[in-house]
Amino acid sequence: MADTNAEPRFSHKKLERNVTLLGLGALVAVAIGGIVEIAPLFWIDNTIEKVDGMRPYTPLELSGRNIYMREGCYTCHSQMIRPFRDEVERYGHYSLAAESMYDHPFQWGSKRTGPDLARVGNRYSDEWHRAHLIDPRSVVGESIMPPYAFLAERELDAGDMANDLTALSRVGVPYDKAAIAAANADLKAQADPNADGAAELQARYPKAQVRDFDGDPTRITEMDALIAYLQMLGTLVDVEKAAPQDQGAAPAPAAAAATSATAKGVRP
Ligand code: HEC
Repeated sequence: MADTNAEPRFSHKKLERNVTLLGLGALVAVAIGGIVEIAPLFWIDNTIEKVDGMRPYTPLELSGRNIYMREGCYTCHSQMIRPFRDEVERYGHYSLAAESMYDHPFQWGSKRTGPDLARVGNRYSDEWHRAHLIDPRSVVGESIMPPYAFLAERELDAGDMANDLTALSRVGVPYDKAAIAAANADLKAQADPNADGAAELQARYPKAQVRDFDGDPTRITEMDALIAYLQMLGTLVDVEKAAPQDQGAAPAPAAAAATSATAKGVRP
């Protein structure tokens, strides 16, 4: 018979009474849990299902996105439509993971003083956005959004967009050498209808909207960049085709199409 008084080879008592040992043990346990959760994200390609239509931002959209972050638009606006009926009816199809796969940093957010913007692209005209950003209450009487009129006055000083694209390519956004080399030219080509290079731009960035966004074709302003960004949000992926069909909370495709159509006419 075994001697029950003898110290077993591994004693939990020893572990619990030695703070260093316990700390080390806890570290190992937490590290294993952390690795199980985090490691798959290093192979992000497998983590996010591929959907057709997703592409990196054009340089102009990216500089608009930089302005969006600089001005703190995210403090009032989320970009993440959750798969609940009230959200889907108001904002359109719920957001897919792949739709923010090139976002560094993400703009998901959770605070909505204003409406979600994940699918605001093509919902309003450029003129509407311009009027709204210059003076929100000129188009939405009860709006509490602050005005951003100065964006229309300021010439866009995006710096060397090749740097932005290079930085993003280091964290996995697929900008190739040609796209990086053409970054500054692509930025001009998208905002200036008279510039050459619109065809190359659209070959590189399918569905890129090329036009003068701020109503002043003589120069490229911060307003151009921000509206170019807003107008592409949520427009790249054909969500009805791409979404997995087994999501219980999601409405049937026909219903979703009908609701996103009505949502267009609804004021927030
Ligand atoms: C203090 C909070 C606040 C900030 C900051 C803010 N907004 Fe808003 N935004 C609102 C509110 C409230 C509304 C709803 C009323 C309206 O349409 O003006 C709104 C509406 C909008 C809409 C219309 C959305 C829709 O579906 O009708 C857009 C686009 C928008 N904001 C863009 C921006 C951008 C771009 C910025 C940064 C330059 C910004 N907002 C900063 C509060 C804010």
